[in-house]
Amino acid sequence: MKLRSIEHGTLYPPDTQQLADDNGGLLEVALDIPDVSTGLFDERLGSLDAPYRSGVWRYRELMPDFPDDAIVSKPEGNTNLYHEARLDDLAGVEVWFKHEGENPTGSFKDRGMTVGVSHARWIGASVVACASTGNTSASVASYAASAGLPSVVFVPEGKISAAKLAQTIAYGARIIQVRGDFDAAMAMVRSAADRYGLYLLNSLNPFRLEGQKSIFLEALQQRRWQAPDWVVLPGGNLGNVSALGKALREALHAGLIVEMPKVAVVQAAGSAPFAAAFERGFDGLEPVSAQTVASAIQIGAPVNYAKAWRVIRETEGLVLAVADSELLDAKAEIDRAGIGCEPASAAGLAGIRRLVNEGVIDAGERVLTILTGNLMKDSDTVIDYHLADPPQALSNRPVVIDSSLDALDEAMSDVL
Ligand code: F0G
Repeated sequence: MKLRSIEHGTLYPPDTQQLADDNGGLLEVALDIPDVSTGLFDERLGSLDAPYRSGVWRYRELMPDFPDDAIVSKPEGNTNLYHEARLDDLAGVEVWFKHEGENPTGSFKDRGMTVGVSHARWIGASVVACASTGNTSASVASYAASAGLPSVVFVPEGKISAAKLAQTIAYGARIIQVRGDFDAAMAMVRSAADRYGLYLLNSLNPFRLEGQKSIFLEALQQRRWQAPDWVVLPGGNLGNVSALGKALREALHAGLIVEMPKVAVVQAAGSAPFAAAFERGFDGLEPVSAQTVASAIQIGAPVNYAKAWRVIRETEGLVLAVADSELLDAKAEIDRAGIGCEPASAAGLAGIRRLVNEGVIDAGERVLTILTGNLMKDSDTVIDYHLADPPQALSNRPVVIDSSLDALDEAMSDVL
């Protein structure tokens, strides 16, 4: 195992925290992947033993090689893959929803965190840190607590959901609220990491992205090793699409898939620098001042751009932006189906609908989309949507009644 520059292939040792090559370019983990068979991973399904009971460490041969006693796992993963006819009707095409909101802290970040925090422990880091729109901070705080490490998180003041802030407070991280946006918080954590030697757990950290590869691997296994034609996912800091790209490359190399699915990244229209760069033929990233109701992906200067555009090129995929209204309607539909997700996660369904309508996704194709966060991560947005005046497409307004049977009869009249 080594760290490798994605620009020029230079190798570096893996047993320190290094976040950039000599020119400031991104690094990835270069693994020595042995011959693997799907049978090995199938045998481990349902294991009660650590670490294989984790939906990340089940694929240990495709993960960084740490000793057992360094591994910090809850365990994570083992999330549902929803596939039902009524969900296909919502999307207009056969669709599988991989629900990463079912992880221990309610988002896909836990898959990355088990590997990132294990690396931190392996190299003897003393304090871990991140900048976050809320999910990474909750996950860092929780995994650091499990590992017995102090954590410091930087969040944009007033721009993360109350539930995510509450979670992070409860798990005991030192929380620094930065006056500014996520991109300002990211700049602060980088300075703090340099200044105090903090171990950084943002998706710049190549070990974190290794864990996130398992979202695709586990979905593939749940589909009995049949690859989908498309993978559609929301994009913010672009770590997850970078991890997905690495998973696809390695799965192809290991013979777990025979062809790369196409990857589509969906951004919120007010926070869409990656979609804009795609439209310009990936001539470089122009940061934007980000605005969207989906606070998780309100990011104007994604740090993983250099990895992410390669994934779109390699898979002949695409990047698109959807309006907040499309995203909120898609979220309300996923919620009402009894599954639920946070706003950013619904970008996937909103994007699929658009691509099916435009004929880009063919009616006969199979689509995997990643629900990145749990419904309960952002209850304020749920309440705002359903109580809005005038009502939204799927408004479900609670009714208030006096304690009388007449009032009850009236409230029940359209239910029965
Ligand atoms: N969906 C959710 C629910 C997220 O929390 C994030 C990112 C994304 C999608 C986008 O993933 O950044 O890898 O492109 N949240 C980060 C955080 C930035 O701090 O929690 P990405």
